[in-house]
Amino acid sequence: MDHRARVYNDVFEMLPSVENPSPLVRINRLCPSPEFTLYAKLEWMNPFGSVKDRAAWAMLCDLESRGELSDGRGLVEPTSGNTGISLAAMASARGHALRAVVPSGIPQEKKVLLKILGAELDVVSDELCPSPGMGDGSINLAKTHAKAQPKRFVMPNQYENELNVRAHLETTGPELWRQTEGQITHLFLSLGTCGTVTGAGRFLREKRPDIKIIAVQPSEGHDVPGLRNVQQLDSCELFDRSLIDEIIEIDYELAYARVLDLCREEGLLAGPSCGLIYEGARRVIENERRGFGVMIFPDSVFKYVSSLVKHIPELAVDGPA
Ligand SMILES: Cc1ncc(COP(=O)(O)O)c(C=O)c1O
Repeated sequence: MDHRARVYNDVFEMLPSVENPSPLVRINRLCPSPEFTLYAKLEWMNPFGSVKDRAAWAMLCDLESRGELSDGRGLVEPTSGNTGISLAAMASARGHALRAVVPSGIPQEKKVLLKILGAELDVVSDELCPSPGMGDGSINLAKTHAKAQPKRFVMPNQYENELNVRAHLETTGPELWRQTEGQITHLFLSLGTCGTVTGAGRFLREKRPDIKIIAVQPSEGHDVPGLRNVQQLDSCELFDRSLIDEIIEIDYELAYARVLDLCREEGLLAGPSCGLIYEGARRVIENERRGFGVMIFPDSVFKYVSSLVKHIPELAVDGPA
């Protein structure tokens, strides 16, 4: 495969790897210190639009290779949207069915996209990032489907599947090391299943023990799909607190304000979690002034247009349809 020519035999060849990393783009106007080099890693450039392409592909390939998806057996997965979208597209193209169990509060755009991609949907009342502790939340409903109908469903379970971590250990971490030529001093990201932080963090900590790994989380009652707030982290099986130097809690409304800044000042069509992560990075850089940091930007703004209008009412457009 020749990634320079960018001619592919199928969409899966576009998935990220050390040879085909997602892009790092420098932050210029919005970097608060000239002595700090700041980049964003644009995970929305992955073929199915988010950081979740990595874990979804690792989990799907594993199930296929173990023969778990034979005889018409499909997938069932709880998701706040992105894993479901990656899995739905991949599964459809490989001839498998997907039933996605989603919290009702995720944006309409994500629910419709799942249907466009051929998934069957269960919409349940749950936290925005499904939480293993919730009795009747999406994780438990997906488990119930898998248990009640084992011939019909297998559950990858991104919340407990070590392959979620391994995907980042084998791709995101090495990509970051190579793209920064080992200069990275700070990694800024957010926490959902914690696959990204545990995998990429473990790789980078090994390479550079003094790297600062900084997680940025939304305040309680937040509306940033995909993320947990700090109080929910204990119920996360893939969470390794020892890898994280600092957890910064940010008022989630600021995430939406920062999306506008990233779009308008840098031309980066960043989603709400990117806004949150940027705000956390900005605070650290204002304090420390020097370094070489990368922010993992999980997805783009397109799937959150309705959320932006909700939080920033001036964006609403009236008039004849
Ligand atoms: C939209 C979105 N999905 C997922 C994640 C989290 O990734 P992970 O589940 O690997 O912790 C984030 C983290 O920032 C996110 O913003």
